Amino acid sequence: MLRQQDVGHRIVVRRIVGIREGRPLFSDALGELVELSETHLTLATAQGQLRVPVAQVHRAKRVPPTRRPTAAAVVALERAADEAWPAPTRGRLGDWLLRSADGWTGRANSALPIGDPDRPLPAAVDAVERWYAEQGQPPMINMPLPLAAPVGAELDARGWGVRPPTLVQTTPLPVAEPADAAGEHAGTAGGQAGGWGSAVVELATAPSEEWLAIAAGRKGGLPEAARHVLTAVDQVRFAHVYADGTLVAVGRGTVTGQGRWLGLSLIEVLPVARRQGLARRVIHELAVWGVSSGATHAFLQVEQRNTAAVALYQRLGFTTHHTYLTRVAPVG
Ligand SMILES: CC(C)(COP(=O)(O)OP(=O)(O)OC[C@H]1O[C@@H](n2cnc3c(N)ncnc32)[C@H](O)[C@@H]1OP(=O)(O)O)[C@@H](O)C(=O)NCCC(=O)NCCS
Repeated sequence: MLRQQDVGHRIVVRRIVGIREGRPLFSDALGELVELSETHLTLATAQGQLRVPVAQVHRAKRVPPTRRPTAAAVVALERAADEAWPAPTRGRLGDWLLRSADGWTGRANSALPIGDPDRPLPAAVDAVERWYAEQGQPPMINMPLPLAAPVGAELDARGWGVRPPTLVQTTPLPVAEPADAAGEHAGTAGGQAGGWGSAVVELATAPSEEWLAIAAGRKGGLPEAARHVLTAVDQVRFAHVYADGTLVAVGRGTVTGQGRWLGLSLIEVLPVARRQGLARRVIHELAVWGVSSGATHAFLQVEQRNTAAVALYQRLGFTTHHTYLTRVAPVG
């Protein structure tokens, strides 16, 4: 049967889907294990997410990866993602990164355990715990899978908690044109004269105060360090979409990783303006800017349970490159 160490790996599950003439009927599913609980397991399959009750599982096992990125590719993308979301307070443990930003977002306030920490694993985790205690913050570790799986076993033994899985998704650039998004949805938004199709995506080198207010709403406040995280990247653009003078959609694009990677973050559309193609247009404009800046690929990080965003990115051609789990030390 499967164990927590299998999360992030490709597995095959034979499940019982019915009984005919007293015999079980089986169906096989293949995909990446994104979550394993006592009652269910969740697979990311080529057809979408599949949640299987453990009671229905006849057999389940790991299978060799197909088209899995190399460890070097995961490391390179994780480093590009770190550059794109730079924590102002940083430390190192050998190759491992230690990051702190007034607690603003998990990514900027967690250790990144890739490479060699220059000491045995238990001593490395001790050092992470000490560093975060000095910052007055709960120790967190962001674990790209399966690269950091051995670290996971050490954290399990220490009783560290785990947050829901995040998918790191990528696509080659350019992204698909939002097929006449303006025309397709124009006039269909409830109450918005002329629809949102006429709204224009503006890319600015700095976020407006309204843009920051949306970011604050989404991420729970905006400490001083957050401005650093958002703006301290050489190549960065802030997408603003106004309709009738109101900011209705935002997004952020960065180019990092020696110019290869367009990073997309804080894609957000006000509830009243959703399903009108605005997110697609924001991403398209940021992608056009990314290409003009030399980027060849785009990446983003999305919680696997964020079904709306996962559907949006799938529609745009993004696929999962790898998964990460944020681990949090037990209180006290
Ligand atoms: C995710 C989000 C940005 C989508 O914005 P949007 O402007 O509504 O998306 P679009 O209208 O451009 O959608 C394009 C396609 O994505 C998919 N999609 C978007 N929202 C979806 C939803 N709620 N359910 C299923 N599919 C969805 C659909 O395929 C859609 O095309 P369609 O409307 O023709 O079916 C928006 O729901 C949002 O702001 N959510 C909260 C913030 C957030 O989660 N951001 C992402 C963080 S990674």
